[in-house]
Amino acid sequence: MGRLKEKPKSYLRTTIGMKKSITLLDKQFDLYIPESEILKAVQKVADEVARDYRDEVPVFIGVLNGAFMFVADFLKRYQHPCELSFVKLSSYRGLTSTGIVETLLDLPEQVAGRHVIILEDIVDTGRTVQELYHMLAGRNVKDFKIAALFYKSEIYNGEYPIDYFGLEIPNRFIVGYGLDYNEQGRNLRDVYQLNKPSMINLVLFGKPGAGKGTQAAFLKDRYNLMHISTGDVFRFNMKNGTELGKLAQSYIDKGELVPDAVTINMLQDEVAKHPEVSGFIFDGFPRTTAQAEALDSFLEGRDMKIDATIALDADDEVLVARLLERGKISGRSDDQDEAKIRYRFDEYNQKTAPLKAYYHGQGKFHNVNGIGEIPDITARLAAIIDTL
Ligand code: IMP
Ligand code: MG
Repeated sequence: MGRLKEKPKSYLRTTIGMKKSITLLDKQFDLYIPESEILKAVQKVADEVARDYRDEVPVFIGVLNGAFMFVADFLKRYQHPCELSFVKLSSYRGLTSTGIVETLLDLPEQVAGRHVIILEDIVDTGRTVQELYHMLAGRNVKDFKIAALFYKSEIYNGEYPIDYFGLEIPNRFIVGYGLDYNEQGRNLRDVYQLNKPSMINLVLFGKPGAGKGTQAAFLKDRYNLMHISTGDVFRFNMKNGTELGKLAQSYIDKGELVPDAVTINMLQDEVAKHPEVSGFIFDGFPRTTAQAEALDSFLEGRDMKIDATIALDADDEVLVARLLERGKISGRSDDQDEAKIRYRFDEYNQKTAPLKAYYHGQGKFHNVNGIGEIPDITARLAAIIDTL
């Protein structure tokens, strides 16, 4: 029975122990921020908010599910008049494409004329914060602030300030203290970071018909990678009308090229939403040296890098024959016209030549013979990847 002891010391802590590393589902996590540090950060946020709002009656809004522990500990440290409510958003974590935030539990009615302070467990790309701003627009709140326990400032990409935060952390995937990995780990008292010993990130080049899609599908399974086909990501975002999709569409409608920054933001979302994979295969991006540099600096910000760039080489005549054959079956008009096919090859040669030089300069460039039986080609690719 739960009889209170004279001194409810930390005896429980020592029994449960603070494990140095843990396993959740298929992943290993290492201790990163102990509970004592987390609680200091919560105290800091509570003090700062109290300094600004102690004479008002703010409405705190916790963002479910992740913020439940933060909200509880925060309120214990905020002993001034206030109200509490929750919202629930979902960003389709775990599916191939994201950037869409769905509202599962909406704002309370009584926010008009009130000081609203959002309590978020963690701010990453800022997509959720953006969505919260949209939800609050038109609700006539008196003012609106964001208080986040953890803040990944290096990759925060939003236009709004994070008004209060407990701890700034680098771009690591963390679990515990409310935060989950595929819904597990929320009950951990300390925060753990994902142990990623062997991340492999690849860029795949190849002319149309060279078999990039086919090979990517094999590599994906073999090395637990995620294949990011930039074309697919674009189409998904535009079709679903995400913020970035709409932005990209606005350039396309004007007949302009989509700026690299927009494309990078889409890729960033893809990467951010897939902490479970062991790496990524970038396909269709970069196409210019400027894009390659942008990709490098974005990856660096996430503590990642490109490990190898692989070009699937094939003789033009073989590819022309292959594409014409494919065109007959698929009906794709650009695969049925030899002149158009050769034009695409020329374009590829012109554009990728400087990129090959760029990656060659970094010692990362590999050519693979893309002619032969599919499993043989996979084996050639694997031989390179296994040395990384
Ligand atoms: P954002 O919309 O990209 O800023 O991400 C915010 C949401 O993504 C948070 O509310 C979390 O649910 C989730 N998230 C972001 N980073 C992490 C992490 O490192 N661990 C667990 N969940 C995270
Ligand atoms: Mg959350």
